[in-house]
Amino acid sequence: MRVVIAGGIGAAGSYALQAASAAGHEVVVVSRAVGVDARSGDGLAATLAGVDVVIDATNAGTTDEVLVTEFFVASTSNLMRLGKRAGVRHLVVLSIVGIDGARRGYYAAKLAHERAALEGPLSASVARTTQFHESPPR
Ligand SMILES: NC(=O)c1ccc[n+]([C@@H]2O[C@H](COP(=O)([O-])OP(=O)(O)OC[C@H]3O[C@@H](n4cnc5c(N)ncnc54)[C@H](OP(=O)(O)O)[C@@H]3O)[C@@H](O)[C@H]2O)c1
Repeated sequence: MRVVIAGGIGAAGSYALQAASAAGHEVVVVSRAVGVDARSGDGLAATLAGVDVVIDATNAGTTDEVLVTEFFVASTSNLMRLGKRAGVRHLVVLSIVGIDGARRGYYAAKLAHERAALEGPLSASVARTTQFHESPPR
């Protein structure tokens, strides 16, 4: 399969990239570092051509609830809208174990991210993990 990993050079995305590559999939990274912006949509349509599955492993670079919510809803909506147009079959969104019931902060923004993905228009699933070893603040 051809797989796009948005945020594929970040902490979580780089593990997804290794796993997908090791499984024999053709992997394409979406990241501002490679000139493609999921939030604004710049460069996204061309990158999604011929792609089967998109993994959304982007992150907002802040923990402010309003900014994070805005970032995730915009990014995942662009991935779905342009993905649907390009023939993408499925979106996987990375999220966090135990966030049900969160009312504020980053976890509430992640719930908004999950809802945006599950509302369509693409078939989507949420993959929740606990925090990665390298992520806790030192
Ligand atoms: N790390 C964890 O422990 C953990 C655990 C559970 C779930 N998660 C979830 O996994 C996801 C990724 O988290 P992370 O910790 O891996 O984040 P991260 O290390 O900060 O990586 C974020 C990635 O997103 C990309 N990105 C940021 N803005 C972008 C944009 N506008 N367009 C395209 N790419 C953009 C960044 O690349 P550029 O700067 O080049 O754009 C970077 O590759 C988040 O949804 C997070 O909630 C993380």
